[in-house]
Amino acid sequence: MADETIEALLLEQRKFPPSEAFKKRAHVVGTHLYDEAHADYEAFWARQAEELVSWSQPWQTVCEWNPPFSKWFIGGQLNVAYNCLDRHVEAGRGGKVAIHWEGEPGDTRTITYAQLLDEVERFSNVLRGLGVTRGDRVNIYLPMIPEAVVAMLACARIGAAHSVVFGGFSSQALADRINDASAKVLVTADGGWRRGEVFALKPQADEALASTPSIEHVVVVRRGGNAVDMSAGRDHWYHELMARADERCAAEPMDSEQLLFLLYTSGTTGKPKGIMHTTGGYLTHVTYTHKYVFDLHPDSDVYWCTADVGWVTGHSYIVYGPLSNGATQVIYEGVPNFPGNDRLWSIVEKYGVTIFYTAPTAIRTFMKWGTQEPAKHDLSSLRVIGSVGEPINPEAWMWYRENIGRGDCPVVDTWWQTETGGIMISPLPGATTTKPGSATFPLPGVGAEVVDESGRTITKGGGYLTLTHPWPGMLRGIWGDPERYKETYWARFPGRYFAGDGAKLDDDGYLWLLGRVDDVMNVSGHRISTTEVESALVSHPSVAEAAVVGANDATTGQAIIAYVTLRGGAQATETDLRNHVAKEIGAIAKPKTIYFTPDLPKTRSGKIMRRLLRDVAEGRNLGDTTTLADASVVAELQSRAAQSTED
Ligand code: PRX
Repeated sequence: MADETIEALLLEQRKFPPSEAFKKRAHVVGTHLYDEAHADYEAFWARQAEELVSWSQPWQTVCEWNPPFSKWFIGGQLNVAYNCLDRHVEAGRGGKVAIHWEGEPGDTRTITYAQLLDEVERFSNVLRGLGVTRGDRVNIYLPMIPEAVVAMLACARIGAAHSVVFGGFSSQALADRINDASAKVLVTADGGWRRGEVFALKPQADEALASTPSIEHVVVVRRGGNAVDMSAGRDHWYHELMARADERCAAEPMDSEQLLFLLYTSGTTGKPKGIMHTTGGYLTHVTYTHKYVFDLHPDSDVYWCTADVGWVTGHSYIVYGPLSNGATQVIYEGVPNFPGNDRLWSIVEKYGVTIFYTAPTAIRTFMKWGTQEPAKHDLSSLRVIGSVGEPINPEAWMWYRENIGRGDCPVVDTWWQTETGGIMISPLPGATTTKPGSATFPLPGVGAEVVDESGRTITKGGGYLTLTHPWPGMLRGIWGDPERYKETYWARFPGRYFAGDGAKLDDDGYLWLLGRVDDVMNVSGHRISTTEVESALVSHPSVAEAAVVGANDATTGQAIIAYVTLRGGAQATETDLRNHVAKEIGAIAKPKTIYFTPDLPKTRSGKIMRRLLRDVAEGRNLGDTTTLADASVVAELQSRAAQSTED
């Protein structure tokens, strides 16, 4: 991150303590949880696991730590679906609304805990009927419809691991993920609604299925109503299988370390990593953080997280955390600007949402749309508002607080990753004095420190964010690649988990997250690796060479900028190449701008100078270019970048 940004953050002096009114009802005021966890973090997590999660067999050992591999609640048995559904129904809360679902066209479904349990039991039997057994992998490629939640919980119920692939990913990306996981069954839909139109999913899935030999059956949910091809024997309609399925399916106890899911995320190489999460520790972590970070009171709150289930936020804070806590939540299918720019605020008003969790990119987009949009609606039900996915700039934080939170809802900026499973650094809304743009402190039970280049802990100033001891929701590894797990997270600073993020500690010990320090970009809160986009570009027959950088962007956090050299005599337009990337990876990975250049700036040893390209893309003055093989390449690019900013 540029020095001027760090300076600007350090000038931020505003502080917001929790109000007396908020504190009166809050689960946590004061420091008692921090003190307890500080004294013995394992005992602290054990207490959370005991209080918040139902076990069918108690564990013998809280944590086994063979760095860098950890196991939690060893010997314990539980079923995640039981925790998310049955126990609430058994406690007499079957009639409570689990999901207020709102389709983009305006159709709605209200699903109680009892109804969700019925649906999950039936679908568990459907999966079993298709040959899925404990330990198998099931791929899920769905829009934001309740069946996504049902499919995930049904997997958990029978001990199959799910691997959800975001519906915006291309068929190629889906095929890669299915093959890496050797999934047996794919659950998809005909299509879903987005921006007032149906987007087709099944045809994409069909393309992927041409090269996924492990898939034996495909279950298709009808949502879009678009025409699809069904391959006899392989493809089945969800509603037809459900109509025939047995009603009851007991929740089988699973080992605490049973694989719950794989979720693929971008790393610094072209190949996405299958992040592994297991059962007991993960559920404890997400249940605990969902309860305390959002100060959830399940009897009165209506919670809404705007993420997609295809990302980890959807796994932890739409499916597992909220349902384990017995919350009532809103799930919305579509985009925030259909039919108007106030859609989200109309939903808040309609359902009386009290807790709202979204991403900084969305907040910056709302800022652009103007304060008149939220002002059209009564948002007085809101009491906690959260942010996740990327650094939030103080200006966006303040706008969020003032215009969505009426100036009196605590703002919780939550830092975490696919790998951490759940929230790690965040205020507790009744206990923490916040500063705009700071994620404040590690949660009770979490050890985080900032270190310098050589791994020495620093107590003030900038460095690298590391986690100092294991936590229950931590990834258990990378599917099929333990070496990559060790190298990626544990090699840079021995004994510590290296998150890949820069961070700064201010005079009061507040943490300020500064974004990625590796070749991972963060575009609208989505992680995309520069190498992945480069590989997609060079797979186009006209492209000889490509370099990709993430440049600061006022709305999306970072934007993808590509520099491309075409093969001699080859022709390709910017649109051709952007579409090609969308086909290879998905629309989210399309470069915002592509510069065609006869050469890329390289060092004399032939390494592409990405840092320099980032400077060019962000319009900064270039420092020393003497190590370059040909400095005129950069001068040329710079003048074109300047031109395109003026355009
Ligand atoms: O760079 C950090 C950023 O998002 C990365 C993790 O991305 P992903 O695994 O896709 O998970 C996103 C949702 C948890 C981190 O390495 N990040 C996430 N939350 C924040 C953040 N950066 C700054 N502040 C945050 N609150």
